[in-house]
Amino acid sequence: MTGLTAWLTGLPSAGKTSIAEHAAAELAGRYRVQVLDGDRLRKTLCADLGFSRADRIANVARIGHVAQLLARNGVVVLVAVIAPYRHSRDEVRAHHNGNDTPFLEVYVDTPVELCAKRDLKGLYAKQRAGMISGLTGVDDPYEAPRRPDAVLSTARRTVDESARELVALVETRMAPGGGVA
Ligand SMILES: Nc1ncnc2c1ncn2[C@@H]1O[C@H](COP(=O)(O)OP(=O)(O)OP(=O)(O)O)[C@@H](O)[C@H]1O
Ligand SMILES: [Mg+2]
Repeated sequence: MTGLTAWLTGLPSAGKTSIAEHAAAELAGRYRVQVLDGDRLRKTLCADLGFSRADRIANVARIGHVAQLLARNGVVVLVAVIAPYRHSRDEVRAHHNGNDTPFLEVYVDTPVELCAKRDLKGLYAKQRAGMISGLTGVDDPYEAPRRPDAVLSTARRTVDESARELVALVETRMAPGGGVA
């Protein structure tokens, strides 16, 4: 059976990791599931990469490659990585399409003001204080998806509710005739 990649894209502190982990716990009884989390991969697979435009592109391409390999072999892959550039995400989709592997772009849609309030890692505060620059969505670009496969509007949902939406989407796509190649 083929798996799929569901890529959760969105601003820092939008809720990608929280939603992916909740959904993974829910899906784990039924499927082989792997979360690919940006923070963890930046310490391992992508430890050599920084935050320049070129490195952000390489980060997404590399993670997209790993996701596709896993998904092709039956794993439900939940990617929690900002992936700020539309073109990068489109390339990952094209790579999946070219290898008959389903790909879902899931937009974790959280207004930047709310992300800055959540500010799990204190990045928005540091940017405001002038301690860092190049924060995605503030002083570095974030290109929101134009035609995502799903939108999780976290301002109006709990983490659990968003995770349940993601689980339902994955289950639909994994079901026989659900659009999975
Ligand atoms: N409705 C909600 N949906 C998602 N997260 C929420 C919600 N309400 C509060 N939060 C909190 O917001 C924070 C989101 O942080 P999280 O690490 O999941 O974001 P992220 O998108 O992975 O960010 P980053 O890109 O920096 O890794 C968590 O502490 C989470 O509990
Ligand atoms: Mg995260």
